[in-house]
Amino acid sequence: MTAAGQGIVPLNLVFLGPPGAGKGTQARRFAVCRGIGHISTGDILREARTAGTPLGREAHGFMVRGELVPDVVMCPLVAERLKAPDCAKGFILDGFPRTVPQGTALEESLSARGARLVACVYFDMAVDVAVRRLAGRLTCACGRMYNLDTAPPSKAGACDACGGALFQREDDRPEAIRRRLVVYEANTRALVEFYRGRNQLVRIDAGAEMSAVSEALERALPRP
Ligand code: AP5
Repeated sequence: MTAAGQGIVPLNLVFLGPPGAGKGTQARRFAVCRGIGHISTGDILREARTAGTPLGREAHGFMVRGELVPDVVMCPLVAERLKAPDCAKGFILDGFPRTVPQGTALEESLSARGARLVACVYFDMAVDVAVRRLAGRLTCACGRMYNLDTAPPSKAGACDACGGALFQREDDRPEAIRRRLVVYEANTRALVEFYRGRNQLVRIDAGAEMSAVSEALERALPRP
């Protein structure tokens, strides 16, 4: 029986905000704490690229340039992923929706299953802070993330968790960062009003330090 079948409302969430706002950092922690699914569309696409699948080959050029992968690719991919068992008690969509048509498609695919979003958490942050964070971000293949300014690894260049070599994401180069921010303003920011109009928007100050952002999330979202 699903959580919904037991009368528990699944904690279905969207994390929305500019590149570098800390959506992935917070989503990983919060999903584990609450036992819900974490769906990062960026991670799905990066894994597909590494595996060399048709999806990965199609997404590659868009991602390197900091452009959006077309809605026609993203919407069915997410609708399918939401059916996985790890989403039965709820999910965090991290990086989706990114356009109003993606937001509408999500609403339709949830309502077709009698489900709905509990909230869209808007990670509100100044653009210059986002640029600084992305320029300092280092990633490990195991998924752990670091920041040269705010969360450096204990040993330079190596992951604290698995010892793997840390690398900079291709789209964290200055020109791709600039493009991603332009694309965010042009396509994604409209979703703030989309969710505000549905009374689903929860704003948090994403410019605060990591533990303060985690506490704000705990306060803002319903407890089991
Ligand atoms: P994606 O991977 O989703 O990238 P993004 O949305 O640009 O977000 P980021 O991962 O860059 O930032 P974040 O907010 O998760 O911040 P993070 O926690 O890492 O997408 C990549 C690409 O895939 C897109 O450009 C597009 O091409 C494609 N794509 C994905 N989804 C798509 C969709 N739906 N439609 C179309 N195309 C799609 O934190 C950043 C840094 O800051 C880290 O170093 C971290 O350690 C540090 N940090 C985090 N929080 C704090 C804090 N509070 N204080 C100080 N430092 C902090």
